[in-house]
Amino acid sequence: MLDPGAVPSAADTEAPPARIPSWLAVLIRRKPVERLVMEGGQGEGGTLRRSLSMWQLTMISIGATLGTGIFVVLGEAVPKAGPAVTLAFVLAGLTALFSALSYAELAGTIPVAGSSYSYAYATLGEFIAWICGWCLLLEYGVSVAAVAVGWGDYLNELLDGTLGVTLPAALSAPPGEGGVFNLPALIVVVLAMLFLLGGARESARANTIMVFVKFASLALFCAVGFLGFKSGNFSDFMPLGRESVGIAGAVLFFSYIGFDAASTAGEEAKNPQRDLPRAIMLSLVIVTTLYVLVSVVAIGAWDWRKFEGSEASLAAIMHDVTGTSVWGTVLAAGAVVSIASVVLTVLYGQTRILFAMSRDGLMPKVFARVHPKTKTPRVNTLIVSLVCGALAAAVPLGELVNATSIGTLFAFCLVNVAVVVLRYTRKDMPRSFKVPLGPLFPVLGFIACAYSMWNLDLVTWKWFGGWMAFGLVVYFLYGIRRSKLATAEK
Ligand code: ALA
Repeated sequence: MLDPGAVPSAADTEAPPARIPSWLAVLIRRKPVERLVMEGGQGEGGTLRRSLSMWQLTMISIGATLGTGIFVVLGEAVPKAGPAVTLAFVLAGLTALFSALSYAELAGTIPVAGSSYSYAYATLGEFIAWICGWCLLLEYGVSVAAVAVGWGDYLNELLDGTLGVTLPAALSAPPGEGGVFNLPALIVVVLAMLFLLGGARESARANTIMVFVKFASLALFCAVGFLGFKSGNFSDFMPLGRESVGIAGAVLFFSYIGFDAASTAGEEAKNPQRDLPRAIMLSLVIVTTLYVLVSVVAIGAWDWRKFEGSEASLAAIMHDVTGTSVWGTVLAAGAVVSIASVVLTVLYGQTRILFAMSRDGLMPKVFARVHPKTKTPRVNTLIVSLVCGALAAAVPLGELVNATSIGTLFAFCLVNVAVVVLRYTRKDMPRSFKVPLGPLFPVLGFIACAYSMWNLDLVTWKWFGGWMAFGLVVYFLYGIRRSKLATAEK
C-alpha cells in the first residue's frame, strides 16, 4: 500500500519519453501516482484532517446526487419521452454505472482530493488533466448554482403551502428570467458555506441527516403517489419514439451527477483505499433504485402530458392524488432540505478539486491554504461559495444545466480512458477494487458517455465549446508556466 504520509521530492516527476518535441513533452508531463498520494492532505501551511467514514462518504455521494434531478428535472424529461422516461433513467444509470466502476478503481488506487482531474494527471498528462479539471468546474461549480436555483422553486412552493405567500419574481429570478436577483439561491449557497467553514466532519454529519430527510420524502411520495396509480398511464409506453429515450436519458444524466463526489474526499477519508470504491458503488445503486421507483410512481399517478411546464411536479402530483395541499407541502419541505444537501456536498467537492489543482500550481495558491484550526481550505471555501452564490443569484442558468451534463460526461470519458491506461502502464500498483472484465466496461462507459453527449442539443455544445476555449486560454496564459511540474523542470 502507498504511504500517504511520506514527503515527496521536487524532482519526483515522470521523465517524458525521449525523442518527442519539447512542446509535446510539456503537454503530456505526468505526475506520478506515488507523488500524488504522498502529497495527499497537504496544503499551504497545513494538512486536511482524515475524519470521514465509509458511511459518511456514501452519504456525501448520495447527498450530491439525489436532488434537483428527481424533484425538478424529471418534469422536464417526461414531456421528452413520455412513460419511457422510466427507461431513460435506467439508460442514464447504466451510463453512470460503467463510469462509476472506473471511478471506483481509480479512487481506490489514487485516493486524492482532485478526483478525475488527478487521475488524468497521473495517466494522460497535464494538458488533459487541465481539460478534465476545467470540465469539473462545470460539473461542480456551475451545477451548485443551477441546483441552488431549483431550491428556490421548492422554497416558494413551501412558503405558499405554509404561509400562503411566495417571493416576488423580482427576488426569486435573475435578470433575463423575469426578476432582478435570485435571493433564495444565494441564501442556500451561503448556508452551505457556513457548514463547510465549520469543518468536513461537521458538514458530513449535517449531510447525513439531510440525506435521511431525502429518503423519507421520496418514500412518502411513493406511498401517496401509489394510491393514485393507474396502469393505463403506461399503455402507450413510447409515444415519442425510440430516440426519445436517448434524448430524455441525456437530460436526466444531470440527476446522476454527483455520485463521484466521494472521490473528492480522498484526502479526508479515514480509509480511502477501502472505502471510496464501496461508497461510490453503493451510492449509485441506491440512487438508481430510487429514481426508477419514483419515476414509475409519478407516471402511474399522472398522465405524462401533464408534466409539461410543471416545475414542482412531485408536490403537484401529491396534491392531486390526495386532494389536499398538505402532503405536497410536506414534500416541498423535504425537497428544500434534499436540494440543500446537494448544494452542500457539491460545493464541498468543488473546493477540494480546486485545492488539488492549486497544489499542483494550476490554480492560484490561495485555494490550497488550510486553516490551522478547522483543517479545511477556508479561503477557498469562501471564494468558491461567493462566486457560485453570485452566479446562482444573478445569471440566468437555464441553458447551462445541460452544459453541466456535457462537461461531466466528457470528464467521465476521460476517467474511462485513464483506468485503462493505468492498467497497462502501472500493472504493479496495488488496487483495492478492479473493474471486472478488463477493458470492456471502461470502453462501454466511454461509448455510453459519448452517446449521451451526442444526444445533447446544439446550444449545449456551443456553451461547452465556449467554456473549453476559455479554459485553454487560461491554461496557456497561466497554468502551463505556474505548474509545479514546470517549476520543478527549471
Ligand atoms: N444530481 C444532482 C441533482 O440532481 C446535481 O441535483
